[in-house]
Amino acid sequence: MGTGYVGLITALGLADIGHKVTAADISDEKIEKLNNGIPVIYEEGLEEMLQKHLYQTKNINFRLMTTEIVSEYDVIFICVGTPQAYDGSSNLRYLDDAAKMIGQGLDENKYTVIVNKSTVPPKTHLRVKRNILTQNPKASFDVVSNPEFLKEGTAIHDFMNPDRIVIGCNTSQSSQIMNDIYQPMVEQGFKLYETDIISAELIKYAANVFLSTKITFINELSHLCEVTGADIDLVAQGIGLDPRIGEKFLKAGPGYGGSCFPKDTQALSYFAKQQGVVTNLIDAVISVNSSHVLSLIPKTRDFFENNWQGKSAKKHIAVLGLSFKAGTDDIRDAVSLRIIPALLDEGFEITAYDPAAMENAKKVMENINFADSLQEAVDGKDGVLILTEWPEFSQINWEEVAKTLKHKVIVDLRNIVDRKKIKKLDFSYYSIGKSSIQSIEDRKENK
Ligand code: UDX
Repeated sequence: MGTGYVGLITALGLADIGHKVTAADISDEKIEKLNNGIPVIYEEGLEEMLQKHLYQTKNINFRLMTTEIVSEYDVIFICVGTPQAYDGSSNLRYLDDAAKMIGQGLDENKYTVIVNKSTVPPKTHLRVKRNILTQNPKASFDVVSNPEFLKEGTAIHDFMNPDRIVIGCNTSQSSQIMNDIYQPMVEQGFKLYETDIISAELIKYAANVFLSTKITFINELSHLCEVTGADIDLVAQGIGLDPRIGEKFLKAGPGYGGSCFPKDTQALSYFAKQQGVVTNLIDAVISVNSSHVLSLIPKTRDFFENNWQGKSAKKHIAVLGLSFKAGTDDIRDAVSLRIIPALLDEGFEITAYDPAAMENAKKVMENINFADSLQEAVDGKDGVLILTEWPEFSQINWEEVAKTLKHKVIVDLRNIVDRKKIKKLDFSYYSIGKSSIQSIEDRKENK
């Protein structure tokens, strides 16, 4: 149930390992597109996989979600959104609707496994169970938890090559069925990790909050690097070589965004408080991530303005990257949504370009110009601000760009530009957690 990121990728992944899968959604429009082989989300490799399982293996089909179809299936995966509510908690409205619909449709003479894949607070399986039973008190079913760990942009790869498949079951019947479903992957050598349901539910939050903590730690340290002259990328590598720490998710940047980390950190904090548990560390992560983004606004403004001093600039800059990270068209909780409006308030004019997120950005971003290409974005501008680490931006030929820019100033909030090349080309360059190129020159002068 649900053909968003989680539902669609899960359905295709299960089809790929040999199961017959129906992906159902309440949107007619989505179902029609998907049945015609047209992806409804942007994801690397999705179109090929969709068409393979629609037309070659015929392991997948798409249907409108109604109560009538529920009883046809042995296992139902709930993959609906659990967005953030106004108070930071997890909004379980769609999950409740899904469970009620399932309850109405279940055949009481047939045992069914209801798998929750949506990200939910611990103990939510009891709520799902209650919702089903209120509709259908005699229904024969178990609820299990099977959290997903898919990253947008590499979701298909992540599903097909999981670090672990987590399942939480509280009956042997449901456990056996879940083991059978993932058996083809276990045979390939992937680890199936089985726990009780509440632990499985918490594992999902714990993983996302821990990764958010790593990112926030390195971002906080980046400020110390800037004032001391240390280099945050070298520090991250230096600590990451210790296997107890690990090198991943230590890339300094403008703060974590996207559809999961901001929402899940808030939701876990909210849930813990409801349970009477104090979460000082998680609360600090949320607050440091937010203040980190905010601190980058005056830094960006000042770096441009200080490097324009004496050279008349109209404050018209190119912003490269609008999505919350590379490889996706998703702009949910992207730093672009915080930094761009603040720079507009500071009197900047902005022309933005993103290889994938333009359509989504145009729906919500006001008072900026959108360029059709990287070249058009930078042409004649007073500087460049990089917000997303798209490979296209790390491969920019700055020698060529230098010829078209009015002022050679770069603010790189993803640390993707080659500093040595930039220095030779006489750019002023700011990146996170390093001495800016301008200040290196200043220091030399001060000696
Ligand atoms: C995340 C989890 O990684 C995934 O397991 C879960 O299922 C869903 O949430 P996703 O939101 O797609 O995936 O993106 P991810 O790649 O984890 O990045 C999240 C944010 O952290 C992005 O804003 C990214 O730019 C930022 N990030 C990530 C960093 O700033 N530094 C890093 O080192 C890694």
